[in-house]
Amino acid sequence: MAVVAAAACVVLLLLTGNGCDAARPVTTSDKFTNHQTPRESDQAYYGVIVTMDVYGLHLSDEQSSVSSVWLRDEGDGALSSHNAIEIGWETDGFQKTRCHNTNCTVGFQPANGAPIGLGDVIQTLSQPKGLKQNITLKVIKDDLALIGRFPRTIFTGGMADRASGIRFGGYVSTRTTDLAPMESGYLPTTDVMVAASISNIQFIDRNGQALVVTQDLPTYMSDPNIYAVTPIVDGRFFYGGPLQSSV
Ligand SMILES: *[C@@H]1O[C@H](CO)[C@@H](O)[C@H](O)[C@H]1NC(C)=O
Ligand SMILES: *[C@@H]1O[C@H](CO)[C@@H](O)[C@H](O)[C@H]1NC(C)=O
Repeated sequence: MAVVAAAACVVLLLLTGNGCDAARPVTTSDKFTNHQTPRESDQAYYGVIVTMDVYGLHLSDEQSSVSSVWLRDEGDGALSSHNAIEIGWETDGFQKTRCHNTNCTVGFQPANGAPIGLGDVIQTLSQPKGLKQNITLKVIKDDLALIGRFPRTIFTGGMADRASGIRFGGYVSTRTTDLAPMESGYLPTTDVMVAASISNIQFIDRNGQALVVTQDLPTYMSDPNIYAVTPIVDGRFFYGGPLQSSV
């Protein structure tokens, strides 16, 4: 059985223009597979809701796997004006120097009554070919003072008002030449029923209304033969890849 209890962990990363991300260790390979709102669009997003299947595949110390949703704004284009909130879950992971959870900022206020919190270990995991278990994540600009439960004052530029883009999917990193399994490890193009899904995808509009994403969005895949996403249909897509037989 490949399932290792307590291997998955919800993380929340906050990346701002202050160079948080610069601490990332160099990895041999970073692979990703995402959907992303069109870059050229002049859209404003006030939040996002997603439901993600959660898996606990065993990874080596050299491997890290993340499933997440990003809200971002690129400001005036200069790296120092980029702002983003990334939330999701990860398995194992050696990227301890990143700004996980509330390490990079102060003033995060957990939502009252949330069943999971930042940094919690997720106990209920999907079986690779069996029952799927999920978490629902919400990042919402809910009043004038908080953005995704962070104080608005930590955001600069456009992000203090809205995000201009949203991206969701998975990425894996390794420090060796081995491939790391992403999510369930199964490619959705081979067998969609055992691949991981992100469903219930909703964007929050200016009026605070949550709208299910019914249209497909552009995809970004570093290695589509190895890690892939399917089109979005009714607010859901499948993604991931490739389980090595030795795992
Ligand atoms: C937060 O920072 C502390 C000290 O810098 C570090 O020991 C810890 O691993 C960090 N935690 C996360 C989740 O990044
Ligand atoms: C999330 O998991 C629960 C429990 O397995 C299930 O009842 C529910 O339908 C799932 N939700 C989605 C959106 O997949």
